[in-house]
Amino acid sequence: MSDFERAAELIKSAKKIAVLTGAGISAESGVPTFRGRGGLWQKYRAEELATPEAFQKDPVLVWKFYDYRRRLISKVEPNKAHRILAEWENSLGNIEIVTQNIDGLHQRAGSKKVVELHGNIWQAICLKENRVFKFKENPIKEFPPKCSECGGLIRPDVVWFGEALDPLILEKAFNLFESADVAIVIGTSSIVYPAAYLPQITKKNGGSTIEINIEETALTPLADFFFKGKASDILSQINNYLS
Ligand code: OAD
Repeated sequence: MSDFERAAELIKSAKKIAVLTGAGISAESGVPTFRGRGGLWQKYRAEELATPEAFQKDPVLVWKFYDYRRRLISKVEPNKAHRILAEWENSLGNIEIVTQNIDGLHQRAGSKKVVELHGNIWQAICLKENRVFKFKENPIKEFPPKCSECGGLIRPDVVWFGEALDPLILEKAFNLFESADVAIVIGTSSIVYPAAYLPQITKKNGGSTIEINIEETALTPLADFFFKGKASDILSQINNYLS
């Protein structure tokens, strides 16, 4: 029996599956990752573009960075890896995704049970009214964009470095990985917490972890299965044994 088949058996027999995804799952769609070759944080300084202090200092610069990423994301499509996970939501019925990605590609692929840990790039927060709303203007016409209701300054509804995650969303994610007997971790460097902690909860509770990445990560020594390769290739191989 190959490891792909073994992982498929594990998935078939699972009562509840929690999936954690990171930038690597969207890489094959053409969305740059953060770390490693071609990563955003190789080219740009995170502290100048993705912190509350950076936004306070220069909201135009920060919004231009997000406008660039919004334009890029609006031109790409979900890939096979996103699509297989969406199929599994229908066929297996016991799978939920927690993503660190803000690109919305899981939902575009058809996944409905998606917890967005770090926010969504197509939403904004009015800082005057403290209201979250859909903000799809693309490209953005005026910088910094303002709230259409009250004219106040708005910010992207994303989590920046140094900011706490929404406690309700975090609780949902913790509960999911706590009750799961299988955690599948795809395309994340597993160095940003608390996200990186989630599969460790499943493991501590006696569950199993399956990791998919093009390289080893801090999670790899803990993983029951480590599949080295692109998310779409590995998920396709496992999927062959599921249908
Ligand atoms: P990273 O850029 O840190 O890591 C991407 C991971 O994907 C790496 O481990 C790559 O080896 C792997 N990878 C790349 N291409 C892949 C492919 N085709 N198939 C499978 N794996 C692949 O991205 P994240 O772990 O998502 O947070 O980063 C976590 C957080 O740090 C992000 O949400 C963002 C960032 O700063 C905030 O902005 C708050």
